[in-house]
Amino acid sequence: MRWLIPAAAGLAALSSGCDVSSEFLQRMEVQAKYEYYEASDFWADGRAMRTPPAGTIPRERFAKLPELKDPVARQVALTGRAHGQPTTTIPVTVDRELLTLGQKKYNIVCSQCHGVLGDGNSVVAENMALRLPPSLLELESKPAGHFYTAINEGYGVMPSFSGELDVRERWAVVAYVRVLQEARNTRTAGQPVPQENR
Ligand code: HEC
Repeated sequence: MRWLIPAAAGLAALSSGCDVSSEFLQRMEVQAKYEYYEASDFWADGRAMRTPPAGTIPRERFAKLPELKDPVARQVALTGRAHGQPTTTIPVTVDRELLTLGQKKYNIVCSQCHGVLGDGNSVVAENMALRLPPSLLELESKPAGHFYTAINEGYGVMPSFSGELDVRERWAVVAYVRVLQEARNTRTAGQPVPQENR
């Protein structure tokens, strides 16, 4: 029964909006902490912000893209742009392994909005009021870099997913989106005409 008390307190607090005076809900907001660039007399240099320890690996590291040695190619892979324009090709090797990774990540990060098939049909989309996630299948003519920059930087009301996906995973998702487009947009008219059995 004891859990009922905090639950009820939480409900009461929520129903009165976000401006809660209850200490129970405000603890994290008001706890002792340093803000960015704040001074601290705990450290010898007087700064609260610390330099990351030597050997800290940045999120954008390229260790997972060993095939890209050329600095320009790496820059294109990192930003999705060549000469300021979305790059037209996927700059990493597209193989089964990459597509499997892309499928997994797409299903986790993108499908709840853009649909498992990329057609924009999802439960979230049905209930979204602001701006519906578009069908990715209709964007077949857009260059690969368009999809990468949407993931990396965000697009309109869609936030960036660079925190969820590293560089290789972002390109893997782009490659998988291409697979979805290819699979769904192929028309029988484009197929070879079957030969008659003789
Ligand atoms: C929370 C829902 C949501 C998730 C998750 C999401 N998107 Fe989006 N996406 C949107 C919405 C909404 C828009 C339209 C934004 C606008 O026009 O302001 C959009 C736009 C886009 C566009 C640009 C469409 C155009 O018209 O050119 C691309 C490409 C895209 N998303 C790809 C992705 C990929 C790939 C993922 C997964 C890494 C993803 N999105 C995850 C909601 C989402």
